[in-house]
Amino acid sequence: MAAGKGTRLKSKRAKVLHEIGGKALLRHVIASASQIVPPHDIFVVIGHEASHVEAAVKDTGVKFVHQAEQRGTGHAIQVAQSAVQGYSSLLVLSGDVPLLKPETIARLRDFHFEQRAAMTILTAAPDDPAGYGRVLRQKPGSPEVAAIIEQKALSSEQQNLHEINSGIYAFETKPLFAHIGEIRADNAHGEYYLTDLASLLVEAGERVVAIEAPHAAEVLGANTIAEMMDLDRELRMETARKLMANGVTIIRPDTVMIDSSVEVGADTIIEPFVQLLGETRIGEDCRIRSYSVIEDSTLDDHVLVRQGCVIVGSRIAHSALIGPFSHLRPESDIGEGAHIGNFVETKKAKVGPGSKANHLTYLGDTEIGTGSNIGAGVITCNYDGVHKHRTLIGDRVFVGSDSTLVAPLTVGDGSYIAAGSCITEDVPENSLALGRSRQTTKEGWATSKHGSDKSHTR
Ligand code: UD1
Ligand code: CA
Repeated sequence: MAAGKGTRLKSKRAKVLHEIGGKALLRHVIASASQIVPPHDIFVVIGHEASHVEAAVKDTGVKFVHQAEQRGTGHAIQVAQSAVQGYSSLLVLSGDVPLLKPETIARLRDFHFEQRAAMTILTAAPDDPAGYGRVLRQKPGSPEVAAIIEQKALSSEQQNLHEINSGIYAFETKPLFAHIGEIRADNAHGEYYLTDLASLLVEAGERVVAIEAPHAAEVLGANTIAEMMDLDRELRMETARKLMANGVTIIRPDTVMIDSSVEVGADTIIEPFVQLLGETRIGEDCRIRSYSVIEDSTLDDHVLVRQGCVIVGSRIAHSALIGPFSHLRPESDIGEGAHIGNFVETKKAKVGPGSKANHLTYLGDTEIGTGSNIGAGVITCNYDGVHKHRTLIGDRVFVGSDSTLVAPLTVGDGSYIAAGSCITEDVPENSLALGRSRQTTKEGWATSKHGSDKSHTR
């Protein structure tokens, strides 16, 4: 069920597309469900912002059911009837309960079949049950359920019921659709509540049971931004714990932000306030210093990223040294043992093994060979206002500080470029290129200017 608006979020975007751990809520749910049934047996009920929701998860291979008007969770299942009537049993998941584990779905399914129930409810006992529907068992400790009572309908003595409905169920299709039409919208919201089916099925002599989830945190819902950020923290902490269990040191893990998709090798140290996002892979024995943000990038072993770097869509080879304050934009490819220093920006830049650009440099659309040195303040002028052009720099090249390299340009192996040059023509190998005006010094100029006024020279 993913059709609801998520009114309590106060957001223009559909609730199920809000992200935790760097991934939309609905994608988390689909990922778990896909471990239990193949994607072509998963039906996503969409309604609010349907086209966006569909586009965002289409690639998973699930199918879609349209609930044009969102008249409650009972109505959501009703509109899915024709799509799912070929199945004898159904699992119903909520698009806004994203931490649910596949093992727990499997437990629910197995318990449902063991109990030969018409409806099985996954429940939990969180510290604070406020806001959730409560499950009323027929007798305390009995698997059998009498009813689910929504928060707003709780009587004063029912307020202390602490077992909550997770909104996740298993059903036998036949009794489900035989009785779904009996649901009435006579409640606080004027909606058709799927939860009413519990008591309706019991009245019809069907068996309704409940099983408690092993960890309440797994079935917490996300109805407000604050609840969502609680789940985000929970998920990221779980990712951090998993990495630490595999030998990664994360100092102050409460301050880092690591997406669940990220992989890190053993003996790597991650300092406080680091963000590792998207499809990022970091090798062993690396150190990622504070305030660096690394997204969709691959770092080999023994890489040192100093403080404050932004690295996106890049590759960094063994033993390279980055930062502090480097900006590696997409398609930067930094070779083994290369150095990229402070206030250096790279984009579509291949920097060969052992080459260095340590200070205040822009390297765009460029390829640099092995062991070259790019001096402070060097700029590749890659853009003529219309097109981008490439700068090719060979091996063992020395580019003096504050040079501008106007692309398209090739600088041959072993060449030197004098500091302060503006280079517009190719430089053959082993040459020295100068592209600047010669210095003139006028000796004694200052003395004659100031005349006998000694106050300036004292
Ligand atoms: C629901 C349960 C409540 C349970 C809680 C657990 C009902 C009436 N109540 O409440 O007992 O404790 O989940 O998280 O079911 N949706 C649709 N179409 C609709 C309405 C909702 O697809 O017409 C979807 C929503 O997008 C959402 C899910 O169903 O993914 C649950 O809806 P929501 O409104 O969040 O239900 P809760 O009030 O949380
Ligand atoms: Ca909810």
